[in-house]
This record gives sequence, structure tokens and C-alpha cells, in this order.
Amino acid sequence: DCRPVTGALQTCYRREKAEYANVNWDELGFALTKIDYMYVMNFTQGDEKFSHGTLTRFGNIQLCPSSGILNYGQDLMMKKEWWYQGLFEGLKAYRKADERILLFRPEENALRMKMGADRMCMPSPTVEQFVDAVRKTVLANKRWVPPHGRGSLYIRPLLIGTGQNLGVKPASEYTFLVYASPVGSYHKGELNLLVEDKVHRATPGGTGGIKAVTNYSPVYKTLTQAKARGFSDVLFRDALTGSNIEEGSACNIFILKGNVISTPTADGTILPGITRKSIMGLASGFGYQVEERALRIDEVFDAEEVFCTGTAMVVKPVASITYQGKTIEYKQGAETVAQRLYATLTGIQTGLVEDKLGWTMAM
Ligand code: COI
Repeated sequence: DCRPVTGALQTCYRREKAEYANVNWDELGFALTKIDYMYVMNFTQGDEKFSHGTLTRFGNIQLCPSSGILNYGQDLMMKKEWWYQGLFEGLKAYRKADERILLFRPEENALRMKMGADRMCMPSPTVEQFVDAVRKTVLANKRWVPPHGRGSLYIRPLLIGTGQNLGVKPASEYTFLVYASPVGSYHKGELNLLVEDKVHRATPGGTGGIKAVTNYSPVYKTLTQAKARGFSDVLFRDALTGSNIEEGSACNIFILKGNVISTPTADGTILPGITRKSIMGLASGFGYQVEERALRIDEVFDAEEVFCTGTAMVVKPVASITYQGKTIEYKQGAETVAQRLYATLTGIQTGLVEDKLGWTMAM
């Protein structure tokens, strides 16, 4: 920005130079705090790839009323094909004790977005473009990365169909946008889950295995009802048999029994979480037998520990699960395997534990 720096702008620039933004870091939950910049890159019909990405001031964007994301951003099923044109990602940047910033496995998010884009007939940025955009967004918003141990910067890349699109078909133009927000815990307090009886999150052949924007809003109603009854989240059963637990509204699930840690197989109805994948790797390294398979409801009830994982959630032990009026409580606290996994994962993410697996990217 080459505008002369005077008056209010000067104050604004001085503020941006401050090492830290004026945030009450200890009060952060999982909500948007408006940061300074976002990154935008476009793809127009006829283009071979996304190009001319740029950092701009964080703010509202303009969309044509008939853009793919606005019109078909909610589910529409035509001839067994789903048309909606929006994907998102979530990853985090953490501050080390020496103030340097670490990104956690950004290439994994780039690859997952590519996989989702392919499913949705959308072009996607290359892995290099994705990672570069994330790095630029974090560096431009450095003062919003919380101090070491007091939260993280949650980065939200979006891939949306922005071209005019009245008919049911893939959009002609796309925007890749990256914004971010400092965040704290996703769920404060205990995780008390309700197994959902009627609504399904994903169906075989659907889009449960990619990060489509519309995997989330269809469960708002059941989530709101569960919260009104005092639960923190819901667990969804598989749509075919109803006998297996698949995942929560925004997290994967694991159970522990003896030396075995199990999680549902990511075969199309389960979101292949990057925290899920990392926890599977750490648990194997600790000597646990890690299994990906269907998790029957009765096995979940019989588990010694249950925990949820996600970028936003990190690793969180489940306090209780309720299904058809029956509630089971699980082990909590410092002695749990979930806590050991949490401490190791966040240790790597924040630079306290040596990153032997090369998961972090220093900025
Ligand atoms: C994440 O954990 O990053 C997610 O995408 C869940 C979210 C919808 C908050």
C-alpha cells in the first residue's frame, strides 16, 4: 500500500507494527476476531490455474447474486450428483516460547482441499500456492498470533464458486481466500455427547469425506436441540445400518480399550482429519495398536476412554455419552491416554517437544 501515511492511517500503521494486537488472550474462545489482512486468489473460465494472489485488507467481499456458493451452497441433489461449490480448510499457527511461529502440517490441508475440489468439479490451488498463501496470511497478521501457550491463530482457507451460475452446473469462476482469527478452546468445560437418533451427517456416495461447506449446516438443528438439553455436541451414526458411531459435528472420534486405540475408517463418510492422522501416528509410536474400522455403539459404550480430535478441538476427552436414555461416563484427567496424546501433540505444535516427524513449518 503506497498511500501517504498520515493522520488516522498513521495511528493504524503504528498499531499494526506493535508486536501483539490488543486482545484479551485468556478470554479467547472459538469465535472470529477481525484480523488485518486476508489473501485472495482467483480463477476465471479459460484460466489454467489460480494466479495473481494478493494480500488485501480483511473485509467483506463482493459476490454476484447468482454465484455458485450463494445459490448452491446449500445441498441440492440432482441425478445422484451433489452440486455445491464451497470447500473450506482449517489449520493453526502457534507461537513458540522464543516468539517464532510454527505452522502445523499445512501441506496436508492443501492436499485435502485438492481432493475435495476434485470431487466437487472445482479447480484448486497447487500445494505450493496453498502453503504460500497461508504463510503470507500468517506473516501479515503476525500480531494476532497469540503468545506462547495462550491460544493459536486458526487459519481458514476457503475455495468458493464465485462465477454466475443460475443452472445446476459447476461455476465458471472461483476464489481461493485465506483469513484467520486468534482462537482459544473450541469447547470449554466437559464434553458430554448425545448420540443422534434421526439425523445423519453423511451418506455413502455423498460428501462426508471432504470438507464441503454443506457438511456442517445441515446438522445445526439437531446440534441446537442437543445443546438446549445441556449436551456439548452430538455423535452421528452411520446412515446404512445405524449401528456404528461415525463422528461428531466438527470432530473425529477415538476409543481406547486395553492396548488398542480405534477410530472409524475414513472411507467416504468420515472426514479424514489431520489431527486424526497425527494422533494415529503418535499413538502407534507410544506402542498402542491403532485400528481403523467400524465402531459399534456397544463398543463405544464399553470403552475405557473416548476422545475427540480436530484442528479446532485438538484432542479432548469425552466425559459422557448418552444414547436412548442411557448415559455412560468415561475416565478423565491427567492420567488418561487422551491427555498424554494431547500434551505430545500440542508440545510438537508449540515447539516444546522435538518434532522428529517434520510436521511443523517454521516461519
Ligand atoms: C476444524 O477443526 O478445523 C474444523 O473444521 C471444525 C470446524 C467446523 C470448527
